[in-house]
Amino acid sequence: MNDFAEWICTSEDTGAVCPVFRRIWSVRKKVTGAELILTALGTYEARLNGKRISDYVLAPGWTAYEKRLQYQKYDITALLSSENDLRVTVGKGWFRSPMPGVMTEDKKRRMNRPQGIWGRIRLTYADGSEEVISTDASWEWGESEVRFSEIYDGETVDADYVTEGWKNAGILEWPQNILIPQEGEQIRETERVAAKNMIITPAGETLIDFGQEITGYVEFTVDAHAGDRIRLLHGEVLDKNGNFYNENYRSAKAEVNYICREGKQTWHPSLTFFGFRYVKIDQFPQKADLEQFTAIVVCSDIRRTGYLRCSDTAVNQLFSNIFWGQKGNFLDVPTDCPQRDERLGWTGDAQVFVKSAAYNYDVEKFFIKWFHDISAEQREDGGIPVVIPNYLPEEAPSAAWGDAAVICPWQVYLTYGNRQVLRDQYPCMKRWVDYITSSTKKPYLWTGGKHFGDWLGLDAPAGSYKGSSRDDFIASAYYAYSTELLIKTAKILGEDASEYERLYRRIVDAFRKEYPEYLTQTEHVLAVQFRLAEDLQKTADDLAELIRKDGCRIRTGFTGTPYILHVLSDYGHEDLAYTLFLRREYPSWLFPVDHGATTVWEHWDGISENGEFWSPAMNSFNHYAYGAVADWVYEKAAGIRLLEESPAFEKVLIKPVPDRRLEWLEASIDTRNGHIHSKWIYSGEDVRYEIEVEMPAVIEINGRRTEVRPGKYTFWG
Ligand code: BGC
Repeated sequence: MNDFAEWICTSEDTGAVCPVFRRIWSVRKKVTGAELILTALGTYEARLNGKRISDYVLAPGWTAYEKRLQYQKYDITALLSSENDLRVTVGKGWFRSPMPGVMTEDKKRRMNRPQGIWGRIRLTYADGSEEVISTDASWEWGESEVRFSEIYDGETVDADYVTEGWKNAGILEWPQNILIPQEGEQIRETERVAAKNMIITPAGETLIDFGQEITGYVEFTVDAHAGDRIRLLHGEVLDKNGNFYNENYRSAKAEVNYICREGKQTWHPSLTFFGFRYVKIDQFPQKADLEQFTAIVVCSDIRRTGYLRCSDTAVNQLFSNIFWGQKGNFLDVPTDCPQRDERLGWTGDAQVFVKSAAYNYDVEKFFIKWFHDISAEQREDGGIPVVIPNYLPEEAPSAAWGDAAVICPWQVYLTYGNRQVLRDQYPCMKRWVDYITSSTKKPYLWTGGKHFGDWLGLDAPAGSYKGSSRDDFIASAYYAYSTELLIKTAKILGEDASEYERLYRRIVDAFRKEYPEYLTQTEHVLAVQFRLAEDLQKTADDLAELIRKDGCRIRTGFTGTPYILHVLSDYGHEDLAYTLFLRREYPSWLFPVDHGATTVWEHWDGISENGEFWSPAMNSFNHYAYGAVADWVYEKAAGIRLLEESPAFEKVLIKPVPDRRLEWLEASIDTRNGHIHSKWIYSGEDVRYEIEVEMPAVIEINGRRTEVRPGKYTFWG
């Protein structure tokens, strides 16, 4: 036994089967404390004397594993007895699961990396002495009852399987300088959702409907005979005939296979997760009953801080969808979606949604970990990979995606006021802006390169996912914006910003020369939102005109959509902003709601009017990006804003904008400086404003500003 832990692994290849490692030891003296630190190459579940050592699931979480791997620390004193048996089962997790449809065969092979664990048990005795049991060749391994576990394809368990033939672990040559203490939020089972309906489909399938799309897994209880089989498939929606559908998971099998032991048993997967609302009971030993199934939500343990409510049930459902979308995609890394063969930390999606995310939940710690992964994954040349952790290294950095490296830390700083976030990220932010400067084809713009553009814009030419806003236009606009935020960051940190101030002026000049006119909704939106247009008011007016001429149809994609309502509201077109927000026909936020959405869809018409699906190649029903409209509701509809960019709501401006098409609307945020609540209610001809602030604030109603102290206020307007 020594203090120095070694990486250990199986001494033979176990193929698809998940290994279990064990350490047995006796305790002869009185123990006052026992601590375990542990991590694995893959997701792990640890049990001491048959009991789970923690409610942390999918440990060790997901980081840029080659550079940073978290270990967890557990107090195991209460689980200790005189004879101890610690077992650690390791699934492929994010570390080893190949992305079936996305990775090349060669890359999939490379994902077949070693499965190992690293850890140390420290026992403190009443006599003051200590004993350390570190992972080394004296630990043993065997095949576990988990016969298969992958992120995308699911889990197979043989409950009757008894591990035999324990062998000594091998020593694995794997770096230890990548090990870091747990940095992010813990991942937990945060909610249980009861099964709502049992459906027998026209095709004769038996489905359980949980009434809500969630990310996690299904727990079932069954009284069975040894060898009975259970097979569950997951899906988000039903097809237009009411049958099970999961073609949109693409190549992710997302299935659970369970071989029963004798008697009554309750089980759920523990080394993987799924995004689903429906479960198809493909095999079950008896007639299934609703009470036998519960969905368990698995999410980073983020605290809810924001609330949105109004008089319209469809809009409230949209709010609910936005919160569920966040819960479903904040599983250790901000992901695009939780279900298909992707589930990646797409930087663009996080950039689009970060402000809403930071009002809805306390995501400071969650993002800090991800920011450190952004820094770790930044390329030599300063480029930011499109997904973090970087599973797609062959993709070129894209504007609006890579800009997440600047925009997200800035927003987290603004919302929570932690300067250290900026301090930590500053070098990475700077290198990203320098990367653009060095890779553009035309100085002071960002031309050339490969970009996702206005991804999913509805003005896309046939056959393209990209809206017709110009790539170079978007890239140059974001170049300006990131440079502007970099300057603000430098000033807060007391760094010299003069070089970037010069750069910024030149970018703006070059942008104005290059783009004297704007061709699309998104181009107008970005020109105003990033203050690049010479005449902001006129550009916003032109945008309003363009939208009206188009029958009040929103055409924007990933880059335009998060800002379009802000731009309209900020320049006197509040009415049109509400028209778009409350619109029911396609394209709109409420169209999916009217078609049964319980989370935010990737496409406004993921299911179209006639019940047809978008192509299964790209049709997620849990994609939080367009949920970014929440920040317009907090900031513009309810009017809760930072005054003069004062971080953490130290100074607040409450400037609500009511609209008669709703009877009332309210929002609240628990900020680092206290609670803020803003509500407006139509009462006859008048509007009553009910505002509560726990910090000094400025309240602006109908253009009149009143400075108030912490307290509750009612205004009429
Ligand atoms: C993802 C998006 C992502 C995009 C990049 C998609 O497959 O699901 O949300 O940002 O690729 O364009």
